[in-house]
Amino acid sequence: MDKLVDSGKTKQLFQTKDKNVLKVHYTNHTTAGDGKRNEQIENKGAVNNQISSLIFQYLNKFDIPNHFIEQTSNTDQLNKKVNMIPLEVVVRNLSSGHFQKRFGTNNLQQLSKPVVEFFMKNDELHDPMVNDLDVQALNIANEHQLSKMRDLALKINIALINLFKEINITLVDFKVEFGIDESNHIILADEISPDSCRLIDTDTKESLDKDVFRKNEGNMMKGYYKVLHKLQKELA
Ligand code: C5P
Repeated sequence: MDKLVDSGKTKQLFQTKDKNVLKVHYTNHTTAGDGKRNEQIENKGAVNNQISSLIFQYLNKFDIPNHFIEQTSNTDQLNKKVNMIPLEVVVRNLSSGHFQKRFGTNNLQQLSKPVVEFFMKNDELHDPMVNDLDVQALNIANEHQLSKMRDLALKINIALINLFKEINITLVDFKVEFGIDESNHIILADEISPDSCRLIDTDTKESLDKDVFRKNEGNMMKGYYKVLHKLQKELA
């Protein structure tokens, strides 16, 4: 049996027989407010595992190195083991969430250029925003690694904007995380799903992501299923 080696807020990591491969189990846990709100939402793990698997496979076509190996069940996938860089890298195309709060912009206002922001992963400190010099001074990453993460984040953004555009969904913003593999390369890790992206129906502006849960606006799975079914049709 694979041994549980780490438990995040929404995923459990198991060591497989291959020392370089982890089995990742997507759970139904859904969190908000730095983990203070934590609820189980039926089928969320399975839906996010499938969405994330489809997106990582799609990104392979664009030469975006990532940790995805294969989906092994509805809720599980195999990932390359990496040393995670403790940063959240957020890319924004339209103003929403914390950007809107910080700058007093209108919700869903189109930004003239995509924005890339870095946040230190630390729940107790509420994931503080950090700039390049903070990241280097705190030995979280060096200048070259920062520039690589920024370039990859923008490349992922273009690929995802185009993918979602085909299925009439607007990518408002998203968060990614990176890790360092055994060859010392920075690769995309963690997940890309409606838990980590803001996605809206381009026509109706309906939220198809975790904002529905964050704002207590009813059953968020309706939007998650819509995203999954559209991606399955598009990428089949
Ligand atoms: O809250 P904020 O506006 O900074 O979120 C920007 C994007 O990053 C959103 O798509 C949100 O889902 C994602 N995010 C995340 N995990 C966090 C913080 C933000 O996936 N801890």
